[in-house]
Amino acid sequence: MIYFDNAATTFPKPPAVTEAVVKALKEYANPGRGGHIPSNKAAEAIFNCRIAAAELFGIPSSPEKVVFTNNATHALNIAIKSILNKGGHAVISGYEHNSVIRPLESLRKAGVTYSVARSRPFDTEGALVAFKELINKEKPDCVIVNHVSNVYGNEMPVKEIDEICNSFNIPMIIDASQSAGSTMIDESKLKSAAYICMPGHKGLYGPHGTGILLCCKEDFLYSLIEGGTGSNSRSPFQPDYLPDVFESGTPNVSGIAGLSAGISFLKKNSVLAVKKHQNSLLKAAKEGLSAIKNVNIISSDTHTHGVLSFNLKNADSETVCEYLSDNGICVRGGLHCAPLAHECGGTVEKGTVRLSFSVFNTEKEIAKSVEKINRFAHSFY
Ligand code: ALA
Repeated sequence: MIYFDNAATTFPKPPAVTEAVVKALKEYANPGRGGHIPSNKAAEAIFNCRIAAAELFGIPSSPEKVVFTNNATHALNIAIKSILNKGGHAVISGYEHNSVIRPLESLRKAGVTYSVARSRPFDTEGALVAFKELINKEKPDCVIVNHVSNVYGNEMPVKEIDEICNSFNIPMIIDASQSAGSTMIDESKLKSAAYICMPGHKGLYGPHGTGILLCCKEDFLYSLIEGGTGSNSRSPFQPDYLPDVFESGTPNVSGIAGLSAGISFLKKNSVLAVKKHQNSLLKAAKEGLSAIKNVNIISSDTHTHGVLSFNLKNADSETVCEYLSDNGICVRGGLHCAPLAHECGGTVEKGTVRLSFSVFNTEKEIAKSVEKINRFAHSFY
């Protein structure tokens, strides 16, 4: 089997991740809920993961700013609802996932509105102009930016948008679902970022059901779920400090232990090396696919991330995926839960076939897949 659906979740996981999950299930109890050894072991594993994530994202002395969530969607919901729970206006990029669009739509009843800074895929200048115009005109309460699109792999100019937001004192939320682990993100260098949201199970190589919310500012702490935190137990009120304000109930101890091992694996390989590897796979895939008749690749010379979308003329993206799956190649087709991105890229009618890479993929796998796609294309036309 060839697995090119790493933008959905990285697979396989490094063996150390599985080992850490098994160890946690065998040895760890409930953290912060007892002073006994298995409880302390769990608390230590969680603290170690907080430290590892804080180091990876440039805030080594602030592990409390690392909040564990179930996934990026959970993190984005906390971030968006913390800033906009009483209403307000947001400006968002044209590449936001349904994990941003749906919370915003649900907040309409609280008076929330939003507008979209639309741009064509890979038109960085166009994206910046669109953000500048809307931010200047609308003075939003919040800006939401998808760092790297899960559909096309195009990158938003986060640093430049950060400068604009900072000049107007507007908090920015970054969806780093596709960039965390393959692009350097240094939280300490971003001035306007209030929250950075990411899954643990994609580029950080952790288990399913893990995510991270980096809380860069403490001005907007609005809990979605209240309950036991193992702290301030006499108080009927939710703690108002990080990370407890956002972490109620028994955490995903085995998942977080696995995530810790995933982050260690990533650190050993280095984020830069991962990016370089993905970029070389991307180049090989683009070169191979572009030789196929009737193929439309959505890319550009500035494309460097390991997510690549294409379509075959007249063929439905799902049909191509089905054929590839029958031939042992796992890719994703359709809209990838991001119809807005497809509107910007002109692919909303049939979606795209998406290949997405991890450190475990090879150029040989690309060559084999290109051959299968070529065969399908020939049988189809
Ligand atoms: N959002 C993830 C994807 O793009 C699940 O497949």
